[in-house]
Amino acid sequence: MEKLKLLALSGSLRKASYNTAAIQALKILAPEHIEITIGDIETLPLFNPDREDEDLPSLRVLKKSLGDAAGLIIATPEYAHGISGPLKNALDWLVSGVEFPDKPIMLVNTSPRANHAQEALREVLSTMSGVVIEKACVSIPLLSTDFSCNEIVEDRIMADTLKVSLSEFCKAIKAQKLRD
Ligand SMILES: Cc1cc2nc3c(=O)[nH]c(=O)nc-3n(C[C@H](O)[C@H](O)[C@H](O)COP(=O)(O)O)c2cc1C
Repeated sequence: MEKLKLLALSGSLRKASYNTAAIQALKILAPEHIEITIGDIETLPLFNPDREDEDLPSLRVLKKSLGDAAGLIIATPEYAHGISGPLKNALDWLVSGVEFPDKPIMLVNTSPRANHAQEALREVLSTMSGVVIEKACVSIPLLSTDFSCNEIVEDRIMADTLKVSLSEFCKAIKAQKLRD
């Protein structure tokens, strides 16, 4: 069976990030026919429209992974009621590309109190013509747990929640493919 490729981005650059741990856990929990690539947004320069025609290796790799992916998974922290700077920076680099529009998107929220960033992110993603798959969006209460990726995988409730959401995401992607 051909693998369904997904790209996952974490909006946090922190080593012990809950958001990064959540997408690492998703990668481990994914069934064999789903291949999750974790993208790097840390090495992108600060967005500058004057540089959009430059060949930036980090942007080239990100665009290639996004172009190859049937869907995008995003997990981001909220900072001062906003989207994380690194994630917004990456999205700004992707605004004018051909890879983003109509891409199905799954959102992973690791802090159920972080509503402002999730709302702002949804607004940005819809402006960029991304398609947030509501049934696949998931909230898992990782804040203050000290959980790493392995502990998420071993926690039955969290692992099952992530697996169900991923399955909904894949169903929606397949349904969209059939419609196209
Ligand atoms: C500078 C700063 C500002 C923050 N602002 C908010 C906020 O407005 N709302 C919120 O729910 N959490 C806020 N937090 C908490 C982070 O979202 C939380 O620590 C989260 O786990 C960070 O994500 P990470 O674990 O993936 O690095 C803030 C944290 C920092 C360091």
